[in-house]
Amino acid sequence: MASPGQKVVLITGCSSGIGLRTAVTLAKDKQKRYHVIATMRDLKRKDKLVEAAGEAYGNTLSLAVLDVCSDESVKQCINGIEDRRVDILINNAGVGLVGPVESIPIEDMQKVFETNFFGVVRLIKEVMPDMKKRKEGHIIVVTSVMGLQGVVFNDVYTASKFAIEGFCESLAVQLLRFNIRLSMIEPGPVHTEFEGKMIQEVMQKEYPGTDPDTLYQFKTIYLQSAINIFEIMGQTPDVIARCIKKVIEASTPRFHNLTNPLYTPIIAMKYADETGTLSVQGFYHMFYSLGPLLNVTAAVMRFSSFLKRRTVSPD
Ligand SMILES: NC(=O)c1ccc[n+]([C@@H]2O[C@H](COP(=O)([O-])OP(=O)(O)OC[C@H]3O[C@@H](n4cnc5c(N)ncnc54)[C@H](OP(=O)(O)O)[C@@H]3O)[C@@H](O)[C@H]2O)c1
Repeated sequence: MASPGQKVVLITGCSSGIGLRTAVTLAKDKQKRYHVIATMRDLKRKDKLVEAAGEAYGNTLSLAVLDVCSDESVKQCINGIEDRRVDILINNAGVGLVGPVESIPIEDMQKVFETNFFGVVRLIKEVMPDMKKRKEGHIIVVTSVMGLQGVVFNDVYTASKFAIEGFCESLAVQLLRFNIRLSMIEPGPVHTEFEGKMIQEVMQKEYPGTDPDTLYQFKTIYLQSAINIFEIMGQTPDVIARCIKKVIEASTPRFHNLTNPLYTPIIAMKYADETGTLSVQGFYHMFYSLGPLLNVTAAVMRFSSFLKRRTVSPD
């Protein structure tokens, strides 16, 4: 239970990655300003979190079951919290999906939307009315740089993140009237189980109905550049957790929060050209003509500190 003066933070998807690190970072706040309700859909997956939380577990961190795809699970979890009070809601749970569109069954696409879009909406719908009554609250959504810029072979994942960005951009205006803040966290690649799951999936899966050229581009060219991009540009979940803490603690939290300075030129390029040609053509050349050069450029950009000004930094 939260002590007087502590903010109640509910985080989804805490069994691994960004959710786990964010739960631990906030629960270990030196001033003990937060009581973290770290949720996951299957408590059998709690061990890594409990170990990382150490003494915070049972003090500033407690566990709860929550499957973002289930209305019942969301209701049960929120009803189980004292006075249903959630001061800060961190929507982190998410799933990925890559592959040529023609080979992906519609049901698989719907599952991605069920988690990445409706999962967030479900939580916001449950928590927002109480925040409105209290005239206070902060809702964080971990989207992605892919919520702002499309990426080849990530069509459906990107669409789910664009969808939630659009939903939140609209809702943010209304929520301001109730003193409720809404912030997007937009990481680029992060070294979590997400990356491993993606690589394993591509290696193992068949992609029926895909022509040989597309299949080669996907399984050989795309997979290799995705691995390289993770290696060169990847951030740690700990960095993202510290960025989230910084956004929570800001006196006027920003709506957009890119965490990786290497992606600011890509987003700037998109907004600089309202025709969309720059980003579509630019990505075409980057992917199909300049693959190896892209890796070199990324390595140089990594050390360019001027890019950091446009992002939220962990420190
Ligand atoms: N890693 C990246 O490169 C990257 C980049 C940009 C944005 N993101 C976003 O960051 C967020 C966290 O991902 P991550 O990188 O930390 O990956 P991760 O290690 O795979 O963690 C994803 C978490 O979401 C949980 N989850 C999935 N479906 C759920 C459901 N129906 N109900 C509740 N929890 C569910 C998973 O739980 P289980 O253990 O039960 O599967 C897991 O705890 C996601 O929204 C992702 O889209 C990731």
